[in-house]
Amino acid sequence: MQTKIFDTSEIPAAAALLRQGQLVAFPTETVYGLGAVINNETAVKNVYQAKGRPSDNPLIVHVATPEMVWQYAQPNKLAQQLMTRFWPGPLTIILPLKPQSLLAVVTGGLTTAAFRMPDNSATLTLIKETGIPIVGPSANTSGKPSPTTAQHVYHDLAGKIAGILDDGPTKVGLESTVIDLSVQPAAILRPGYLTASALTPILGEVETEQHHVAANVVPKAPGMKYKHYAPNAQVVIVAPAVDFTAAVQATRRQVSGPLGVLAFDDQLRQIAAAGNHAPAVVTFALGDDLEQAAQELFAGLRAFDDQPAIKTILAAGVPETGLGIAYMNRLKKAAGGQFFSFDSGEK
Ligand code: TXA
Ligand code: MG
Repeated sequence: MQTKIFDTSEIPAAAALLRQGQLVAFPTETVYGLGAVINNETAVKNVYQAKGRPSDNPLIVHVATPEMVWQYAQPNKLAQQLMTRFWPGPLTIILPLKPQSLLAVVTGGLTTAAFRMPDNSATLTLIKETGIPIVGPSANTSGKPSPTTAQHVYHDLAGKIAGILDDGPTKVGLESTVIDLSVQPAAILRPGYLTASALTPILGEVETEQHHVAANVVPKAPGMKYKHYAPNAQVVIVAPAVDFTAAVQATRRQVSGPLGVLAFDDQLRQIAAAGNHAPAVVTFALGDDLEQAAQELFAGLRAFDDQPAIKTILAAGVPETGLGIAYMNRLKKAAGGQFFSFDSGEK
């Protein structure tokens, strides 16, 4: 199958493919999603197949208006308030369903489902033109970093999907915050750009325990899901309190090939000033603030896959507050939890 790239003037053609049961990747403010209409079982199954995703991991239903949700979910005042405040935006809301309202292939057989109205006008138009909500897991091969450009999607899924709607790089760069309103108190299942402190004015108490999703969705072997967002090289996190330049020098002595470095601009300047340059040290810049770093993280992780000689990547850790919680959640998964330390040799 040839994968067609659509620009935002070609939304009707992309919508037509979706209505025919084809897969079309779409932009959002967080990451690109892999779309299929929610009422076509074969199309939704093909989403899992194209990604290589385990079929028990439920999908987010993407809507163009808050009203679209209430055809499927049970009425919920708090959800309505969240939607008014944060939609369109990077917040996914899990709600109890009306009986038989969604295919089991969408929900993973659960009695709840995840809903989200993304903040991207091309995609909102796409959903409206399609006339029905679309599922949308991140449009990457399962286990790889989520795609923040149409080119990332093409790299992973070319030949497996009918189209990609290209609206340039995504703004937020990390997937949406997932809040579960089917439990009391409400629980954040996945941290994102919107933090607990943004949600508590509406929800009151918010549980932020992060094991929830794994416990809920993959009860058998949550540990096997731990490494995710992973490039081919081993990622090692440099904690914010550690001198990054010293970590680079120490690690250079341990690795045979080039060393990958994913760091903030000021860290890169210091690393270069200490005499660490290409080809021995290959860098990717995260910018100079956390918002930029969140936006660039997945692109940075992917960039090193172009250079197979790189076996180790040192990546900048940040304090786990605010957006730093979501950033570190993804980076720890990419690293399989590995942090740099001076006493344990390379890692
Ligand atoms: O930003 C995003 O949310 C992106 C863009 C494309 O919208 N989508 C995305 O989808 O990240 P995905 O499939 O990669 O992540 C959805 C997460 C998974 O962790 C899944 O287990 C969880 O939401 N989820 C979905 N439905 C659920 C449910 N009913 N109960 C608990 N967790 C659920
Ligand atoms: Mg994903």
